[in-house]
Amino acid sequence: MKINIAIDGPSAAGKSSVADRLAEKLCYVHLDTGSMYRAVAYLAQKHGFSLDDEEKIVAFLKETPMEVDPDGTIHVDGEALKEQLYGNEISLAASSVSALQGVREAMVEKQQEISAKKGYILDGRDIGTVVLKDAEVKIYLTASAEARAKRRTDQNLAKGLPGDYEKILQEIIRRDYQDTHRQHSPLRQAEDAVLVDSSDLTLDEVVEKILDLIKEKTEVL
Ligand code: DC
Repeated sequence: MKINIAIDGPSAAGKSSVADRLAEKLCYVHLDTGSMYRAVAYLAQKHGFSLDDEEKIVAFLKETPMEVDPDGTIHVDGEALKEQLYGNEISLAASSVSALQGVREAMVEKQQEISAKKGYILDGRDIGTVVLKDAEVKIYLTASAEARAKRRTDQNLAKGLPGDYEKILQEIIRRDYQDTHRQHSPLRQAEDAVLVDSSDLTLDEVVEKILDLIKEKTEVL
């Protein structure tokens, strides 16, 4: 029997990489909900909407269908979005538009519709608390800001992108603050989520730990 798995946590905690690995091992689909907020930020910038203009952004989303492929490509507004969604500027813009209640409502509805069939791993900030309150397995994946900044710096350098550790650390701290202090669905650990701190764990170790939790859960289901 397939279940749904919720993974929440701060930015750069490794949620996406962990969710990708789990999806591969379990033959599940990974839905990266952050990429949907990134797509909204991209569209707002493309059409010149101010990032706090909830009315305009929500009206636009209402008349613009959005489809997410199992490989993560987002089809919207005549474009296929993937790599375009991962720059520093778009990360901060996504954090801003994700604070808008109307944007959240539209994205949550879409995420619930996609995952209704089960067999999904959703990663984000409000999955265990709002989107999939009834997910069979909930993980809160975190790591110290320093460990996350170090990982992001290494990843960027490996991709040939700018890798200034101090700057990346400050951005992570700023996004943590925005994501945990916003009025609507701030990032927090669901009461029934299992806390996994990946500061001193490798990706493989985190994946093994979560697979054990899934096995425990599915054996009793
Ligand atoms: O996971 P990410 O860094 O790609 O997410 C981009 C932004 O979207 C992040 O600042 C928080 C927001 N977000 C959210 O509010 N709710 C989600 N379920 C996923 C992401």
